[in-house]
Amino acid sequence: MAELAITKVDKIYRSRKGDVHAVKALDLTVKPGEIVALLGSSGCGKTSTLRMIAGFEEVTNGAITLGGRPIHTLPPAARGVAMAFEAYSLYPPLTIGENMSFALKASKLPPAEQEARVKAMAEMLEIADILNRYPSSVSGGQQQRASLGRALVRDAGLYLLDEPMGQLEPQLRAVLRGRIKHYLREHKCTTILVTHDQTEANALADRIAVMEGGVLQQFATPAELKAAPANLFTGTFIGEPPMNVFAASVLAAADQVSFQLEGGTTLTYPASDIDAALRARLAGMQKVDIGIRPHALQLGDGPVRGKVMACQWLGDQTHVAVDVAGRTVVSASQERVSRAPGSDVALGVAARDLHLFDPASGAAIAHGGRLA
Ligand SMILES: Nc1ncnc2c1ncn2[C@@H]1O[C@H](COP(=O)(O)OP(=O)(O)O)[C@@H](O)[C@H]1O
Ligand SMILES: [Mg+2]
Repeated sequence: MAELAITKVDKIYRSRKGDVHAVKALDLTVKPGEIVALLGSSGCGKTSTLRMIAGFEEVTNGAITLGGRPIHTLPPAARGVAMAFEAYSLYPPLTIGENMSFALKASKLPPAEQEARVKAMAEMLEIADILNRYPSSVSGGQQQRASLGRALVRDAGLYLLDEPMGQLEPQLRAVLRGRIKHYLREHKCTTILVTHDQTEANALADRIAVMEGGVLQQFATPAELKAAPANLFTGTFIGEPPMNVFAASVLAAADQVSFQLEGGTTLTYPASDIDAALRARLAGMQKVDIGIRPHALQLGDGPVRGKVMACQWLGDQTHVAVDVAGRTVVSASQERVSRAPGSDVALGVAARDLHLFDPASGAAIAHGGRLA
């Protein structure tokens, strides 16, 4: 178990067609035994980051240490890092079982123990029945699990898993998530998991690093990301369905604070609902962006008027799409709600559920009536 520290790391891919600045001034620390998810949309720099840590790409600037030892100048094999690749990278002439035990051959483990480890790992990943087959004769999902197993059976200081379950059926993915988390905890594995799936990140990670455009947007626990997004990007990226966002004008008076939403509706809160420091900040502002999570947008009561577009019952919650002054907003409820399309509805939100952002920078100003 070792701490990983990434300091001011840049990755710039240079070519005649132009430079791509894939990772920008990244600072990230992963504590010993911690599971961190790198979460972001395609092209945000997740794989580049992992490949720099593993040693398959050079860092353009910055440093990476593992257990206090600089590793970014070492060859990959000297770093003590195990990686499961996005593209699996299994050796075609070796069977699935041989692929999984390949890295153990060089270890000092007795052969019987190597075999036992591979067998237990294959059972955990539900590929025990294909250990004698060759990669070309099994499915993409099976190859992916073999690649994951090959990384996890090793004794490494750090495990890097690049979209390790992207090819699997949702049901299998849900089962394996639980088993993999249990395994990583039992073996106290320091791990970075790359994913674009927020459910996977929430389910597996102690902390999530949200990336966009090569820039780390926020690094926090799943609960913190939800309750206190650092900016509008994280606010709208994390959470399902996504946060509703309204541009609004602010009117802060001594006894109340009003937000006039685009389209005309006004949300008014007594001064007692808004922290004094936030009221003082708002008194100096004209515009804010207001974020309201669908589960906080209450249907049936409040000053916002709209027309129901569609009700979607998902088996455990209802999403109601509502047209508010020409914009689609979504209200979500644990209840089974049915409203006729075209009917009028009222919507409201409590002060404790408001997220306020600076319209110019996108930075969070306040969450739940208090300064961020
Ligand atoms: N070898 C490479 N040469 C040039 N550009 C690359 C290379 N690898 C990745 N990129 C670019 O760097 C950016 C980040 O890519 P990547 O790290 O693979 O993102 P992610 O894993 O988040 O999808 C993208 O714009 C991608 O096109
Ligand atoms: Mg990738």
